[in-house]
Amino acid sequence: MRNNIQFDQHGQLRHFLQIEGLPRPLLKQILKTASSFIKAKKKTIRKVPLLRGKTVLNLFFEPSTRTRTTFELAAKKLSADVINFNINASSTSKGESLTDMLQNLEAMFCDMFVVRHADSGAAYFMAEHVSPHVHIVNAGDGCHEHPTQAMLDVLTIQQQKGDFTPLRVAIVGDILHSRVARSLCHALSTLGVSEIRAVAPQTLMPMGMEALGAVPYTDLRQGIKDVDVVVMLRLQRERMSSALLPSEREYFNQYGLTESMLELTHPDAIVMHPGPINRGVEIESSIVDGPRSVILRQVSNGIAVRMAVMAMVMGGGEHD
Ligand code: CP
Repeated sequence: MRNNIQFDQHGQLRHFLQIEGLPRPLLKQILKTASSFIKAKKKTIRKVPLLRGKTVLNLFFEPSTRTRTTFELAAKKLSADVINFNINASSTSKGESLTDMLQNLEAMFCDMFVVRHADSGAAYFMAEHVSPHVHIVNAGDGCHEHPTQAMLDVLTIQQQKGDFTPLRVAIVGDILHSRVARSLCHALSTLGVSEIRAVAPQTLMPMGMEALGAVPYTDLRQGIKDVDVVVMLRLQRERMSSALLPSEREYFNQYGLTESMLELTHPDAIVMHPGPINRGVEIESSIVDGPRSVILRQVSNGIAVRMAVMAMVMGGGEHD
């Protein structure tokens, strides 16, 4: 997909649609800005007036717990007005087109749409059809990208590990259907991570992982050996059009992260998961709640990262 639509004529970030093609300094600026919103001592997020008087509309065509709530919290911490638009109760069920819906919502003086959609490219489509003063942030489009998830993932890695350069990172699970994996590979690669591994059964491994900077592995033991970070993904049954796996039990036996498998990683390795988690399917429950897990830290970091992205597309940058 075209990348230049993300920037205005002055080269400023206008929409946030994908990680692919974004330069390293921009990703670092997002991390720096997000970090500036986190109050280290109190482990809370500061409230700032950067989007006072602006209206943000959450437009989620797919279910969400973490992304929608943290975007709402982030917009409120930026002092914006926020509306969680109820798609199911909207006039789309009466045949209204997406572009007509956008025009009507724009007429209500919305400044930013945060969009999650089952179709890859939906956020791009909207970015191409909104007025020049309106901003689109992609909250996950089909199997394409989930760019703010990748940024909160790399912020969590940075907090835990510091320098990206020497790291080995394994992304394990249903890579084929994962917008999280695609965005994360682009982010890790751009930030200079030395080794990215994609671990999945052959049926859930997309072609061309090397182009995303990742080395494919079909064996979990080899894939997670000595890694510093393990990112587990759930099976996205809702995106599978045919049976790609024998059974969940068989999948857990082959690809589930268990305590004994975790011993193959570096002794200081951290375990991540974007959620939602299916305990006992891709990961043993005790690991989710165990000392290596930074899964809830990822969720908390979602607020600061989404604040940073929304502030930056609206023209705000680093914040002291
Ligand atoms: N990680 C993630 O996108 O979670 P939600 O589907 O709950 O938003």
